Amino acid sequence: MTQCPAQKSRLPVNEVLGPKGGAPIVGLTAYTAPVAKRLDRHVDFMLVGDSLAMVLYGMVTTRGIDLETMIRHGRAVADHAHQAVVVVDMPFGTYEDDRDTAMANVKRVMDETGCDAVKMEGGADLAPTVAAVTASGIPVMGHIGLMPQRAKDRSGFRTKGKSDTEARRIVKDAKAIADAGAFAIVVEGVVDSVARDVTDAVHVPTIGIGASATCDGQILVTEDMSGLFTDFKPRFVKRYAELGDALEAAVVAYATEVRERTFPGDEHVVQAPKKPKTKEVNRARG
Ligand code: KIV
Repeated sequence: MTQCPAQKSRLPVNEVLGPKGGAPIVGLTAYTAPVAKRLDRHVDFMLVGDSLAMVLYGMVTTRGIDLETMIRHGRAVADHAHQAVVVVDMPFGTYEDDRDTAMANVKRVMDETGCDAVKMEGGADLAPTVAAVTASGIPVMGHIGLMPQRAKDRSGFRTKGKSDTEARRIVKDAKAIADAGAFAIVVEGVVDSVARDVTDAVHVPTIGIGASATCDGQILVTEDMSGLFTDFKPRFVKRYAELGDALEAAVVAYATEVRERTFPGDEHVVQAPKKPKTKEVNRARG
């Protein structure tokens, strides 16, 4: 397929997402070229999240999406991002078990998508892998708290950090990932006080989703905040538009016009050029 590579004017990850304490960082997910083009000038970073498993492919969790699919979507977004940093999620099963496999898969994602960074879910257990990847020069965004790849079904999508033990573990996870070299950390689905503690404890920006306004930035799934994905609405989602309703209204209008034969109209069809009359043709031939 012919690609349309973006001009590489995107700033380095650290310049866009750091240092901590600057203006709040704005992130949204993007899975496709048309959405990337709409978001590019308005956000600091676009995440090609593995949430696309649920949002685009209708899966029950994020665990079913494979590396090839993430690479295809990552490339579509990176090819059309001129300003915003592009981060691609490492999908479930491609980086957790052994470091060599993680390195090989991370390199594939970087090389084959043209993205700026990868994101990995995991706490202290993942720190050695994050350290190895960042030492090789590849920027890593961490992801702690609620880690959707660890949820086997919807019951796994519960807020974390309600007990003292869990709260302490989440802060420990965040520190381990920051110390391993992650340039930012997504903090998902934790109680407000834990997100504050994490934000205070680490030297890199925290990006909240279902976490706290005190995080250094926020991210939402674009289809959630624009009303395109309506299967369920987590409490932390604010709907800024109802694009699903707008799409359905457009579909109803189109279907009605096709059935009434009022679409296509004259302006949508090409008439054949008028042919000269037969007599004139004969005369021209002599
Ligand atoms: O996959 C995703 O979209 C994410 C965000 C929810 C942070 O990880």
